[in-house]
Amino acid sequence: MRKFKAGIIGCGNIFEMHAKALAKLELVDLVAVCDSDQQRVRLAGQHYDCQDFTDYRRMFKEATLDVLHICLPHYLHEEVTVAAAKAGIHVLTEKPMAITVESAERMLMAAREAQIELGVIFQNRYNSGAMTLKSLIQEGALGKVLSGKCQVTWSRDETYYSQSDWKGTWEKEGGGVVIDQAIHTLDLINWLTGGQPKLIDATIGNRFHDTIEVEDFAEGIIQYQEGYTLSFFANNYYSFDAPVCIEIHTELAVATITGARLEIVYFDGRPTLVKDIPAEDYLENGIASKTYWGTGHITQIDEFYQHLNGTADFLVSGIEALKTQKIVAGIYQSAKLNKPVWMI
Ligand SMILES: NC(=O)c1ccc[n+]([C@@H]2O[C@H](COP(=O)([O-])OP(=O)(O)OC[C@H]3O[C@@H](n4cnc5c(N)ncnc54)[C@H](O)[C@@H]3O)[C@@H](O)[C@H]2O)c1
Repeated sequence: MRKFKAGIIGCGNIFEMHAKALAKLELVDLVAVCDSDQQRVRLAGQHYDCQDFTDYRRMFKEATLDVLHICLPHYLHEEVTVAAAKAGIHVLTEKPMAITVESAERMLMAAREAQIELGVIFQNRYNSGAMTLKSLIQEGALGKVLSGKCQVTWSRDETYYSQSDWKGTWEKEGGGVVIDQAIHTLDLINWLTGGQPKLIDATIGNRFHDTIEVEDFAEGIIQYQEGYTLSFFANNYYSFDAPVCIEIHTELAVATITGARLEIVYFDGRPTLVKDIPAEDYLENGIASKTYWGTGHITQIDEFYQHLNGTADFLVSGIEALKTQKIVAGIYQSAKLNKPVWMI
């Protein structure tokens, strides 16, 4: 069996989720890691028994990678994706795809020209509850979507921002709670309901974090061409990372996702459907060290390699992730202009 040779660039917070997943998957070997922090990358290389680099250009030359996992600050996703594409290396990047829609589109163009695969991590789509709800909505088993709402209340304190040289800045993070934390939930509810956003009217602001320039709360409405509306609320000044709440009201039921738990209450008296991730999954092999990150990384990364191997479709291509990038951009644009913005 052919094994893909993978590298990871960025050995910070999210690195382990990728490295541990790669260590478990049969189709791939982690052969190189890269980080501009020499000590950090050396430790990572020693731990995963692979080559370490502080410069990705050298890694591309010397490690002959098939796939690069990008776990870098947001503003670097485009630069490194384009360089990898030019080197003929497939890319799986962490969310957000990029800082702006234009940047994401340049990434897509580079991937197309080089004929490489470009995928984006949105691991929450892979929770079994989310997958079940998506299938039911897609099959029409819940009737038409009438409306939806979602809420993200997480905690990002002063230490979180003061320890980072890029988080909390427009230039390098591209925004705050919307592009970094709520993006998962916006991606999920948009994918689940499956419509075409028509109009976004949003407000953002900073109420609690004195030391950062980006927003720490956002609320708004997304109107869809299909006739339904989604409303959202997000902040990152709550006291803990509370389970995300999504509710979707359809003709036949109300579906609620709380964290990874799905509950569907049918209006015709059928028994309530409940689907959850077993608690032990959050602990198993350290794959999901933080419950609010969910357990989907390994499933999504596995699917990416199955896709490269020709044995599966990959759900979150760059084209798919661009839809979420456009929603994020619509929220920022509407908030900055202080008026609704058209999405079509
Ligand atoms: N999917 C999720 O649930 C999830 C969770 C956390 C973070 N993320 C995403 O993962 C990405 C990384 O976030 P993080 O919190 O791990 O960041 P981080 O700041 O902890 O890590 C980034 C790493 O990149 C390195 N780096 C910076 N510039 C570099 C360069 N030019 N070359 C090589 N290395 C460089 C830094 O030294 C650091 O080790 C972001 O896109 C973030 O949004 C996703």
